[in-house]
Amino acid sequence: MRRAATTATEARIMHRDQVEPASDTCWDPERYLQFAGLRRRPSEELLDRLPALSPTSIVDLGCGTGLATQLLAEKWPDADLVGVDSSRQMLEEAARTGLPARWICADVAHWQPAWRPGLIFAAAVMHFVGEHRLLLPHLLRQLGPGGCLALHMPDWRDAPWYQIALDVLETGGPAGRPLGPDPLRTAMAERNVQPVDHYYRLLAPLATEIDIWESSHLQVVHGDNPVFDWVSVSALRPVLNGLSPSCRQRFLEQYIRHIREQYPPERNGATLFPFRRIFLVARVPGGAAALH
Ligand SMILES: C[S@@+](CC[C@H](N)C(=O)[O-])C[C@H]1O[C@@H](n2cnc3c(N)ncnc32)[C@H](O)[C@@H]1O
Repeated sequence: MRRAATTATEARIMHRDQVEPASDTCWDPERYLQFAGLRRRPSEELLDRLPALSPTSIVDLGCGTGLATQLLAEKWPDADLVGVDSSRQMLEEAARTGLPARWICADVAHWQPAWRPGLIFAAAVMHFVGEHRLLLPHLLRQLGPGGCLALHMPDWRDAPWYQIALDVLETGGPAGRPLGPDPLRTAMAERNVQPVDHYYRLLAPLATEIDIWESSHLQVVHGDNPVFDWVSVSALRPVLNGLSPSCRQRFLEQYIRHIREQYPPERNGATLFPFRRIFLVARVPGGAAALH
């Protein structure tokens, strides 16, 4: 079943009968796409490891600007494709791609399809959403027979750039005091992403096939302060949006200085930005093909 292609001008972003997304959903698609190639790559790797599926219905959770949606559309051109995201800015950019998809503005923590997708794909979104213990089994239960959940997510909690952000929040205020409101620091210190064996134990009882792995990609990035450019439009958004203007200024002065020291340019001008990710593929009973 294939839906009529949605042109950029006709593109409508639907607010489904779902809980409205949380307020901090403002993203900057243009700056996000500065590293489009590197951000697309884990989705390509994940797609390469999927079992032989022929889904007629695919959901791209946290679709953003549609980087992964495009790969899904190329691999399964006849499938009914839905992109779900809580950011209007990102969905508007996705709609401009002209991909034959429906775009739904919703919070993935609460969104539930009224149908049974054959594939739920979630690229670089689950680390923003807590309660994996409940959410991931819930997503498996939404799949049709033999359906597949495939996701990748950064595992950045122990990365130097993240630790530096926590440190500056903790001690970057006047006289070494904390910066910003307590709930912000608490939220940033939370650890949504769990060790891989946790995901196996969580999902194995519901899945016939399960494949989980980690990667560390030595990303080579370019620019004056490319690590800051990368994280400031994704992981650091809650900090930059959650601080008052004066606290934000104070945070940025310290954070940018530390990041430059931590990630100095190589002799050729490139910057090395190691990046860890978790990949997970889980298939529910009812399908014939095995994971390769
Ligand atoms: C790092 S981007 C990934 C976008 C895309 N999947 C990709 O691979 O380029 C994360 C996306 O997740 C979305 N997002 C974050 N939390 C979300 C939530 N609770 N519900 C829906 N979307 C969410 C953001 O709006 C953003 O577009």
